[in-house]
Amino acid sequence: MPSKTKAMKDLLIFAVKFIYGFLEALFHWVVPKPKKNVAGEIVLVTGSGSGIGRLLALRFAHLGAILVLWDINPEGNQETCDLARKAGASRVYTYICNCSERQDIYRVAAQVKKEVGDVTILINNAGIVTGKYLLEIPDECVEKTFDVNSKAHIWTYKAFLPAMITNNHGHLVCISSSAGLLGTSRLSDYCASKFAALGFAESLCFELFAQGYTGIKSTIVCPFFIKTGMFEGCITENPLLLPILEPNYVADKITNAILEEQVYLFMPRFLYFALFLKSFLPVNAALALCEYMKVFEVMNCFTGRLKKE
Ligand SMILES: NC(=O)c1ccc[n+]([C@@H]2O[C@H](COP(=O)([O-])OP(=O)(O)OC[C@H]3O[C@@H](n4cnc5c(N)ncnc54)[C@H](O)[C@@H]3O)[C@@H](O)[C@H]2O)c1
Ligand SMILES: *[C@@H]1O[C@H](CO)[C@@H](O)[C@H](O)[C@H]1NC(C)=O
Repeated sequence: MPSKTKAMKDLLIFAVKFIYGFLEALFHWVVPKPKKNVAGEIVLVTGSGSGIGRLLALRFAHLGAILVLWDINPEGNQETCDLARKAGASRVYTYICNCSERQDIYRVAAQVKKEVGDVTILINNAGIVTGKYLLEIPDECVEKTFDVNSKAHIWTYKAFLPAMITNNHGHLVCISSSAGLLGTSRLSDYCASKFAALGFAESLCFELFAQGYTGIKSTIVCPFFIKTGMFEGCITENPLLLPILEPNYVADKITNAILEEQVYLFMPRFLYFALFLKSFLPVNAALALCEYMKVFEVMNCFTGRLKKE
């Protein structure tokens, strides 16, 4: 085929797909996307022993999924297991896994494959935070933050992606944060780890698309503060634009995004606008806005989960 015709053909295909992308989004703005059925899917939630991980486990229990629950805290995880059974799950498997250790992730992953089967929905949710100025953070804490919040995502993908690729079926869920979109004070290592998690999940989403594995979906979640205790003490000066979120609201939104196969979920919606502002505001104007909105002060009264992993 002459190259000019080929170029015309490529342009036409692009134009059709591009416009279709808009029309589809517009359509689903009015008519919600159909929700997929997850009954019988094997759902792995890391950090399922409390907070959002627990609530997500309960949502998927209700939807008839087979649950695989990973946490470093056996008591919390057992509680989640009991609650999930009450919520209707017939098959729940709990594992103690230290997500800051690659070898432990691979060991437990192998056990899951043998005892339960191939994970089809992987929810990387476990996360930790130190919440100090950089020079006050012990090096071990920086390393652990990256191990749990970012590197664990890579190891879990390596463990469970091969089966998803074989079947061209699966869903990869990354619980990042608003701290994965916008850097802020007293959260340098946490922000860096959440940016890394987002960058990794987004890259894999595109890599799988480029390879033609359209049956493997991705969802990337970036919430602002949630009332789970992880960021205990934190306050917001902007309850309208940046409210502290209710855990059940967040769990519902995440579940819905997974069922509708939505790629990006930022909460609250102001974060979409904040990211847009960052891309074009002069830096000093952006800093003035941050000062005015007191966004660098949100960590001032942080206490967090004192001394708990
Ligand atoms: N709470 C917030 O304000 C907020 C905001 C944005 C994003 N997030 C993110 O949401 C996710 C869930 O947060 P949450 O508020 O439910 O926190 P949480 O502290 O209630 O729960 C985190 C769970 O992860 C587990 N965990 C910690 N280290 C682990 C390890 N090494 N191996 C295995 N499990 C480990 C903990 O035992 C706990 O059960 C985290 O990734 C967090 O960074 C939280
Ligand atoms: C988890 O692994 C890290 C890194 O090896 C270690 O420092 C920590 O003590 C472990 N936690 C538990 C509860 O085993």
